[in-house]
Amino acid sequence: MDNSLSFREEKAIKTIHEATSATPQSTEGLQPVIEVYGGASLRGEVRVSGAKNSALAIMAGTLLCSDDCRLRNLPALADIDRMCQILSAIGVKLRRSGDCLDIDARDIGQSQAPYELVSQLRASFFVIGPLLARLGTTQVPLPGGCAIGARPVDLHVRGLHAMGADVRIEHGVVHANVRGNRRRLTGANIYLDYPSVGATETIMMAATLAEGETVIGNAAQEPEIVDLANFCRSMGARIKGDGTATIMIEGVERLHATDFPIIPDRIEAATFLCAGAITHSEISLFPVVPDHLSSAIAKLREMGPEVVVEGPDRVRLIPKSLRGADIETLPYPGFPTDMQAQFMAVLAMSEGNSVVTETVFENRLQHVAELQRMGANIKVKGNSAIIQGVPFLSGAPVMSTDLRASAALVIAGLAAEGKTVVQGLKHLDRGYEDIEGKLRGLGANLRRVWVPAEDTAG
Ligand code: UD1
Repeated sequence: MDNSLSFREEKAIKTIHEATSATPQSTEGLQPVIEVYGGASLRGEVRVSGAKNSALAIMAGTLLCSDDCRLRNLPALADIDRMCQILSAIGVKLRRSGDCLDIDARDIGQSQAPYELVSQLRASFFVIGPLLARLGTTQVPLPGGCAIGARPVDLHVRGLHAMGADVRIEHGVVHANVRGNRRRLTGANIYLDYPSVGATETIMMAATLAEGETVIGNAAQEPEIVDLANFCRSMGARIKGDGTATIMIEGVERLHATDFPIIPDRIEAATFLCAGAITHSEISLFPVVPDHLSSAIAKLREMGPEVVVEGPDRVRLIPKSLRGADIETLPYPGFPTDMQAQFMAVLAMSEGNSVVTETVFENRLQHVAELQRMGANIKVKGNSAIIQGVPFLSGAPVMSTDLRASAALVIAGLAAEGKTVVQGLKHLDRGYEDIEGKLRGLGANLRRVWVPAEDTAG
């Protein structure tokens, strides 16, 4: 396979904004790409940002409160910007300063989050629980489909229905109203058929202001659920059992002001551990919660590298030669689906065979084709990827298919021979704060440049 860029592509990349990765004055007809020149070894410490998935759920959770909320350690990401736009659209006043966000949701109205925004961010659907709990009625557009699978919201809807809401879907919009003459939802026993992160968050948030006790069985146990519960408790909510499969929430009448820091992003941290492993580099990460990284650390150790936990908020990766390992994605505390693509990039260059099985989402192996373009030896069978490690990858133009896939391609590019051009950065920018800057700080050779959109689309 010819992995080289066409002459036109090369010329475009050379001539357009060659000397600088600054955003050009007009970006019309241009798209950003990341050029990665492989082979540099990395060294140093990465500062890990606040957790995107925690931040998004907690931002939705601020709708529960009619006092001021301050969130700290908020990552600077496109998804966070979108969530800010959605909150603004429903009447929330926001003031952002660095990683701090002041939120005043006193005067939220009935206005609906615009479909254009909701369709770009699945997590925006999470506003349905808090809005219904606070107002007794709400309309939220259904989130659009997603590259990694169908991602229905039936478990969210069934939970709200069990708590006394009439829920109907009309013209792509979910209309939810508390049944009868009541304004408040009623506590209920809800068993989730699958420990969905989003559904657990929706029901937990709705239950904080419901009348009586709600018990969520087979709840998701992800650290982001615990962070959301901690946030709700900091406003006076009564929640127990978060971090286990049974969460109990005793509803209260109102919640009060809070000032809350978001936990560090375990997926970003694991992504950098993969960058260290694939480039055989020693790197350390700070701040992290090592427990949140248990499955990633265990898997990396099985693959060869040493991972040393240095105190309560720092880990260090010490490189060793890489060997294959099998991975199956599972709900927490199993191996996270959000780390699957990045680990696959490392396994592609690890000695021996590996099998990666994706069980959480039905269509999350699209990065295989892009890794193959770089010379990886991977075959897909059903929801498994069978990988035979190769000693070299070669740089190629590649297309991001989703957020974590885009990080996997950057990581593969760090270890590949020559230049990799990663396109489709709208995915990467959703979830990685300044990934180029952080990698460059470790010594990686990469930069963002603007190229004509049509030249790289094909
Ligand atoms: C969250 C994370 C995402 C992560 C995922 C799984 C956020 C913003 N996103 O997404 O990064 O990959 O958890 O760890 O926190 N499902 C249903 N019906 C529902 C809800 C989910 O069938 O009502 C299915 C989904 O299609 C999927 C599986 O359950 O196959 C897991 O989804 P879920 O845990 O809900 O993921 P999200 O909350 O969307």
